[in-house]
Amino acid sequence: MMTSAPMPRHVAIVMDGNGRWAARRHMPRSFGHEQGVEALVRTVRACVVRGIPYLTVFAFSSENWKRPEEEVSGLMNLVLVAVSRYVRRLAEEGVRICIVGDRSRVSEKVRASWQEAEDATRHNSRLVLSVAFNYGGRWDMVQACRRLIEEGVSPEQVDEATVARYMALHHAPDPDLFIRTGGELRISNFLLWQAAYSELYFTDCLWPDFDEAELDRALAAYAARERRFGDVRPAVEPAPQAA
Ligand code: FPP
Repeated sequence: MMTSAPMPRHVAIVMDGNGRWAARRHMPRSFGHEQGVEALVRTVRACVVRGIPYLTVFAFSSENWKRPEEEVSGLMNLVLVAVSRYVRRLAEEGVRICIVGDRSRVSEKVRASWQEAEDATRHNSRLVLSVAFNYGGRWDMVQACRRLIEEGVSPEQVDEATVARYMALHHAPDPDLFIRTGGELRISNFLLWQAAYSELYFTDCLWPDFDEAELDRALAAYAARERRFGDVRPAVEPAPQAA
C-alpha cells in the first residue's frame, strides 16, 4: 500500500544568515535582509503549494535591538516596504498574517503597518503566516503569566492547556518542524514553550538562498524522523497539544 510521507502542519523557521550572505557579496547587511524578504515570500508560497497550513518565522528578536541603530532602523523600514509590496498579493493567495511579539516598543508607523497586514488578511485560512517580531520565547512566557494573573486565573486553574491559551501563538498548533538556517545550532530564544516536541533541522544554507529545494530537503528529513512524544512506540497521532 502506498502511504504518503508525513507532512508537518506547522513549520517554524529561524531565518539566519542574511548578514553573511551579503558580506560574501561585498554588499551591506541591509541588502541581505532585503533578499531575506524575497526568500520569505518564496517560502510562504512553497508552503501554500505543499498544503502546509501554518508557518512561523523569526523576523526580529527581543535581542536584535542590540544591533547598530542603522541596521535596526533598516529592518523597521523593511517592514513598511514588505507590507506595502507583498501583503495584497499574499492576501489574494489565501495567506493570513499574524504578528506575534511585543508591539509596545516599535514605532507607531510599524505598528500601523502590521495592523494593516493583519486586517487585510484576517479572513484567510489557507496558510497562517505568523511573523515573530520583537519576540522572545521568554518574553512570551512572561507575558502569558502576567495576563493570567491580571485576569485572576487561580493557581488551581493553571495547567499546560491554560498557559498555552495565553501564549502568543495560541492560534496555531505547536510546530512539528523547527528549521534554522545559517549554520548555528541554537534555538536562540525562539518558540521555547511551543517547540517542546518539534523536530529540529539545521542547515548551513544562508537564509537568502533558501528555496523550494531546501524546503523539500527539510521536509524529507522530517518525514524520516520517528516521533514518539515520550512514548517508546512511534506516535500514530499528531503532537499532543497543550491547547
Ligand atoms: C538573521 O540574519 C536575520 C534577521 C535578524 C532578520 C530576519 C529578517 C528577514 C529575513 C526579513 C524579513 C523581515 C520582515 C521585515 C518581515 P543575520 O542578520 O543575523 O545574519 P548573520 O548571522 O549572517 O549576521
